[in-house]
Amino acid sequence: MILILLGPPGCGKGTQAKRLEDAHGLVQLSTGDMLRAAVASGSEMGQQAKKIMEAGELMPDEIMVEIISERIDQPDCANGFILDGFPRTTPQATALDKLLDAKSLSLGKVIVLKVNEKALVERITGRYSCSNCGAGYHDTFQQPKQDGVCNSCGGTEFTRRADDNEETVRSRLGAYHAQTAEIVPYYEQRDIVAEIDGMQDIDNVTVAIQGVIG
Ligand code: AP5
Ligand code: MG
Ligand code: ZN
Repeated sequence: MILILLGPPGCGKGTQAKRLEDAHGLVQLSTGDMLRAAVASGSEMGQQAKKIMEAGELMPDEIMVEIISERIDQPDCANGFILDGFPRTTPQATALDKLLDAKSLSLGKVIVLKVNEKALVERITGRYSCSNCGAGYHDTFQQPKQDGVCNSCGGTEFTRRADDNEETVRSRLGAYHAQTAEIVPYYEQRDIVAEIDGMQDIDNVTVAIQGVIG
């Protein structure tokens, strides 16, 4: 099964992708996580990504398509994958169609998470993650069971993303509306889009997604 999780920054793509990984044996392919790994490695592409991500803008399509093309060829993707953060522009969506066609693969569902703008900003500005295993948390909405200790690995160090400040969030939202939202109608022509109310709590969003993918 190949799924796309689509929606604005902070809508819950990463949170839900992790749950689908566990429940369905699919692999989460988060282009944002891949770019953050490139930034941490200090590579030339990472240096370019750092500037673009901190400005809340999008990386060039050619680079992103190449990253995904190489990634979906890896053996762990053979049972299916969840695209989280890709495609993000119409050229990325058409390039993905070509990549999948060449492998005789087809898209299952495109799941669109709808969340209002005030909630997006609240979610993003309160988000942090475990420095050791990457598990995601929120100051208010998703706290660790034991204060300051990661549920998944017991780690006690946490980090916040450099682009998770209110100013950058505004430009990320601008990029979503200007360049990404238009791919929803692109997929609607194929009748594979499922819109989910992403304002529900995390567990109920998961239940709604499960209802769509079966
Ligand atoms: P990326 O990392 O993809 O960021 P994003 O799209 O802005 O999305 P986020 O990761 O911020 O949000 P999310 O939807 O995953 O929400 P989460 O589950 O964490 O991309 C970063 C940058 O990389 C881009 O700006 C761009 O520069 C570049 N980039 C990446 N891909 C690219 C591409 N294809 N082309 C070009 N450039 C690209 O949830 C957020 C918080 O809310 C968490 O704290 C969570 O605990 C909480 N939460 C989640 N669900 C709920 C809920 N239902 N109720 C309450 N709280 C909730
Ligand atoms: Mg994410
Ligand atoms: Zn951890």
